[in-house]
Amino acid sequence: MARQKLKTSIAIVGCGDVGATLAYTLILQPICSEVILVDPKKELLEAQVRDLGDATYRGGSGVKVRAGDHKDAGQADIVVITAGAKQKTGESRLSLLSRNLHILSSIFSAMSPISPHTILLLVANPVDILTYFARKLSGLPESQVLGTGTSLDSARLRGILAQKTEVAPNSIDAYVLGEHGDSQFIAWSSAHVGTTPLKLVLGEKLDEAFKAEIANYTKGAAGSIIAAKGCTAYGIGNIAASICKYILFDSRSVRPLSFYQPELGCCLSMPAIVGRKGIIKAMPTDLDEHEQAELKKCAHGLRGVIEGAEKELAADQELKKALEEDKGA
Ligand SMILES: NC(=O)c1ccc[n+]([C@@H]2O[C@H](COP(=O)([O-])OP(=O)(O)OC[C@H]3O[C@@H](n4cnc5c(N)ncnc54)[C@H](O)[C@@H]3O)[C@@H](O)[C@H]2O)c1
Repeated sequence: MARQKLKTSIAIVGCGDVGATLAYTLILQPICSEVILVDPKKELLEAQVRDLGDATYRGGSGVKVRAGDHKDAGQADIVVITAGAKQKTGESRLSLLSRNLHILSSIFSAMSPISPHTILLLVANPVDILTYFARKLSGLPESQVLGTGTSLDSARLRGILAQKTEVAPNSIDAYVLGEHGDSQFIAWSSAHVGTTPLKLVLGEKLDEAFKAEIANYTKGAAGSIIAAKGCTAYGIGNIAASICKYILFDSRSVRPLSFYQPELGCCLSMPAIVGRKGIIKAMPTDLDEHEQAELKKCAHGLRGVIEGAEKELAADQELKKALEEDKGA
C-alpha cells in the first residue's frame, strides 16, 4: 500500500516584504501544514519566523512556521521564490534581471538535488525571464515550473472594470496576458461580465481612449505603490497564496500564469488550468488580430532578453568553474 503523506509543506525562498506577506496569508487561510522560510539574512529570518509563529497560535491555525535552508526547501511540495532585489522607484522589472538571475542560479545550486515532485512558483522579477531560467536550472518538467506572471495585473484589471461596470470583481472575466511588465496587453476581445461580452455591457464607452486608460492603470499600478511605500506585498502575497491553494487542492482553476510557450520560445502569461501537478493544460485562446500581434511583439522582446541573459549566465558558470579549479590547484 502506498505510504500516506501527512504533511503539506510550502517553502518560501526569500523572506523580505513579499515572502513574509505570503507566509502570513498561508497561515491565515490556512492551506498547508508547514511553511519553511529561507533567507541568508539570519537575524531577519529568525525574527520573521518568531513574528509569524505568533500569528499561528490564534484560532488553532495549526500551521507550523520554521526556518530552513535551501536543501530543506528543495524537498517541499511547493517552493515559492521571492528572493531577489526589489524594484526601485522608476526602475523597470527587466533591469533587475542581472542581479536576480545570479541569485536564482545560486539558489538552484544550493537546493540541489530538488525533489522531482516539487512545484516551483516564481514571484521574483522579472518573473517571466526567471521562470524561463528556473525551468532550465531546476531540471524539473515544464509543467512543474510556473510564475505568477500577469495574475496580479489581471486582478487589478478585474478591480478597475468592476468599478467601471458597477458589478462585483468576481463577476468580471478579463485577462492581462503576455509579460508581467511593459509589453503586457489586455485580451479585450474575450473580456466578459458574467456571460455577457464586455463590449455589450460598456457599448460605445469601450473605445480606444478607455482601453488605453485601463491598460496604463494595470501597467503602472505597481510603480505608484512602490514610489509611496517601497514595495508591493499584499496583492502579490494573496495571489501567490491562491496559486499555492489551487496546486495543493488540485482545484483546476483557470488562471493567467507564466509558463513555457514552446512555439514562442519563452515563458509568458496565458490562461492555463492549474492543479496538483502544476500547469495541467494551456487553455486555447481566441485572440483577435491586434492581440495576436501584441503577443508576438511581447515574445520577441522576451526572447531578446533571454538570449542576452543566457550569455551572462554561461560566463558566470565558466567563472565559477575556473575559481573552483584554482582552489583545487
Ligand atoms: N511577480 C509579481 O507580481 C511581484 C510583485 C511584487 C514584488 N515582486 C518581486 O518579488 C521580489 C521580492 O520583493 P520584496 O519586496 O520581498 O524584496 P525584499 O528585498 O524585501 O526581499 C527579498 C529577500 O530575498 C532575500 N534573498 C536574497 N538572496 C537570497 C537567496 N539566495 N536565498 C534566499 N533569500 C535570498 C533577501 O535577503 C531579502 O530578504 C522582487 O524581485 C520583486 O520585484 C514580484
